[in-house]
Amino acid sequence: MKLFDVYPLFDITPVKGQDCYVWDDQGTKYLDLYGGHAVISIGHSHPHYIQRISDQVNKIGFYSNSVQNPLQKELAEKLGEASEMPDYQLFLCNSGAEANENALKLASFKTGRSKIVAFEKGFHGRTSGAVAITDNPKIIAPFNADHQKEILSLNDLDSVEKVLSKKDVAAVIIEGIQGIGGIVVPDADFMEGLEKLCKQYGTLLILDEIQSGYGRSGKFFAFQYTNIKPDMVTMAKGMGNGFPVGGVLISPEIEASYGLLGTTFGGNHLACAASLAVLEVIKDEKLIANSFNQGKILKDQLIKINKFKEVRGVGLMIGAELNDQVSPIRMGLLRKNHIFTGVSGTNTMRLLPPLTLQGSHVDYFMSSLGEAMDSG
Ligand SMILES: Cc1ncc(COP(=O)(O)O)c(C=O)c1O
Repeated sequence: MKLFDVYPLFDITPVKGQDCYVWDDQGTKYLDLYGGHAVISIGHSHPHYIQRISDQVNKIGFYSNSVQNPLQKELAEKLGEASEMPDYQLFLCNSGAEANENALKLASFKTGRSKIVAFEKGFHGRTSGAVAITDNPKIIAPFNADHQKEILSLNDLDSVEKVLSKKDVAAVIIEGIQGIGGIVVPDADFMEGLEKLCKQYGTLLILDEIQSGYGRSGKFFAFQYTNIKPDMVTMAKGMGNGFPVGGVLISPEIEASYGLLGTTFGGNHLACAASLAVLEVIKDEKLIANSFNQGKILKDQLIKINKFKEVRGVGLMIGAELNDQVSPIRMGLLRKNHIFTGVSGTNTMRLLPPLTLQGSHVDYFMSSLGEAMDSG
């Protein structure tokens, strides 16, 4: 049987990972500044993470959401503490798109409305509902949900008010920092105004922190640079450091009832063990502060070389935009210097390294980038 061929893949096969490095099947060592779309938060194959998952594998081979799983309660407890949102409720699922689907559904249940507001260049996943609110012409929507959505410009409160004032919008969904759209940080004033408008017109505010959450921005969630309290926060990616897990943090004002949401695998024992290990390592190794500090150093150095049109982002979520295509530079970095980077669109290099990044990695990247830019 052939694989359904939807991904343009590099001809590289990683077989081993450790911290910020991966090795391919030829023994070549790569510095990973992309972490599989921001998935690697605590570094590849962290020993505590491996231990936590291995212990769990040996303990239980059975799982169902029809019986108690104490790991879910432990995770909710530790997540409440780490995110400083202990009053929120946690619903566990398996991926980012699924987290958004559940948040959209809850918003619709709570408000009795079906319309969703999202933003230009936003990305929310690949399920039908998530695709319908994603602003990317390359991502094909499976059905026409246009009548249920409104895509607005980021940072434009007037157009938000025009739409919300009709009082038929269930939710506004916005990324804490736009990832695939080019690492764009919404203005804090806009976020605060958005929250106010949502409250005024009975619309729920969903923060998609699937890429920007779990310490990547230098705060636990990127929206925590502002003074808002979203109704829901969705997360995935860095939450499991590679293990597929997602979740929704749900305001205490939204009441749960049996059967409202559901999933077979969401919150299974292995996913909880992986997620707990991630939170424990983030805390023990002070990775949120490291993300903020190393991110600042990296961003300052990128700005200093004066070759980018714009350098955006905060913490270890950085976009460096050129006037031209970034692909020749990325390919030079990969083939010659063995560094993985990511891209947004055609001109923006997207850096999403593990939160364990150190100065020596930044130095190697910056000297390699200089070389790649001179010959790119
Ligand atoms: C902001 C954002 N939301 C949602 C998703 C979808 O997550 P998943 O691929 O886990 O379904 C992504 C994935 O890139 C994302 O970046």
